Amino acid sequence: MDKLEIEGGVRLCGEVSVSGAKNAALPVMAASILGPGENIISNVPRLRDISTMGKLLAHLGMGYHQEGNEVTLQSKDITSIEAPYDYVKTMRASVLVLGPLLARAGEAKVSLPGGCAIGARPINLHIMGLEKMGAEITLTEGYIHARSKKLKGAVVYFDIPTVTGTENLMMAATLADGETVLGNAACEPEVVDLADALISMGADIQGAGTSTIRIKGVSSLKPLRYRIIPDRIETGTFICAAAITGGEVRIVNCDEGLIEAIISKLGETGAEIRHDSDSLYVKCPSCLKSEDIKTMPYPGFPTDMQAQFMALMTVAEGTSLITENIFENRFMHVAEMRRMGANIRVEGATATVKGVKTLKGAPVMATDLRASASLVIAALAAQGTTVIDRVYHIDRGYQGIEEKLRLLGARVRRVSL
Ligand code: EPU
Repeated sequence: MDKLEIEGGVRLCGEVSVSGAKNAALPVMAASILGPGENIISNVPRLRDISTMGKLLAHLGMGYHQEGNEVTLQSKDITSIEAPYDYVKTMRASVLVLGPLLARAGEAKVSLPGGCAIGARPINLHIMGLEKMGAEITLTEGYIHARSKKLKGAVVYFDIPTVTGTENLMMAATLADGETVLGNAACEPEVVDLADALISMGADIQGAGTSTIRIKGVSSLKPLRYRIIPDRIETGTFICAAAITGGEVRIVNCDEGLIEAIISKLGETGAEIRHDSDSLYVKCPSCLKSEDIKTMPYPGFPTDMQAQFMALMTVAEGTSLITENIFENRFMHVAEMRRMGANIRVEGATATVKGVKTLKGAPVMATDLRASASLVIAALAAQGTTVIDRVYHIDRGYQGIEEKLRLLGARVRRVSL
């Protein structure tokens, strides 16, 4: 298992380029099930999760090929309707094939995802929505088995806005009979990107990016030619990495419009962030002020940036209250940061972070994707060397993280055992 060795204390300077958004690319890849023929998707990051989705689609009978940042998916024939446990246990987003498979093949059998490091993460709302659209769903031997000759448009109201739930139903509804209305839908930019991709295939979708999405079913869709949006969470992660080292960094190929909550919060801590066309310039003082955050669905502060922001707060001046409202167990990084000398107390959904003068390098363990990014950020500011174990988590969501950090001057080394 690879480890990352980081010697802290270097001020990050220079330019870094952001990759395409993993959480937009995954549903867009699943959408290619709906457009028989050759689907070409560009600006796809080279990541473990992307190749897992590619292999799953290949298992369904599709051709899958990634060359650089372009993915080609040949979906002329679908020969299997089953997403086996081996894929779903590696990556929960495998559940995104449920809606499009059902819409195209009239049947889908998808392993039910279990709990994960950050919470129970049920998919009851995906199932409820598909049932409203007329699917007959049974749960047997750990699999969701959904059947429907032709899905019917329906009004589906989500009790909680769910990102992949909204995406699954939006894809299912594109080929349904009549109109589907998704209420209290997720407004995340990745949902909008999927809607734009589906519209480019001939789907009739209105309202993506608002809490009410209307989809009028069409008889068929054509294959995709689509470019994925920049990764807003990777952008935010580099802003935090620059900030914790008091650095001066230009972040290119990003979209500042997607990260207003992050920019605004970082601005309040004292970081200077300016933008022009597709780049952000970040310049930070040696010590930032503490600020409180509460994670919220978009456009609120994203849960996927909570751990990275917490890393920043461990060495900020004052006390910060960090409240996690989306996932019930997303503080796994706290124990690891404490091993580096951070002063953090957790009570229920809120962590109280008292800034300390300095963190100290230590051996730590990555527990999930964003937690591992937060440990990298903490390590960049720590005195001495931090060794982060289980970095396969970070490889799921950050393309070439150590090369990108090294370009900014960080002393990072991957140790392969
Ligand atoms: N929820 C339910 N029932 C459902 C679906 C969701 O109760 O049927 C609850 C969840 O347990 C959670 C809340 O609703 O408390 C929101 O979860 P959501 O469904 O929006 O999460 P997701 O779609 O499984 C996506 C991202 C996550 C990101 C969340 C929240 C992808 C592939 N994953 O997950 O990304 O944290 O939205 O923004 O898009 C990551 O990239 O590290 C990551 C975990």
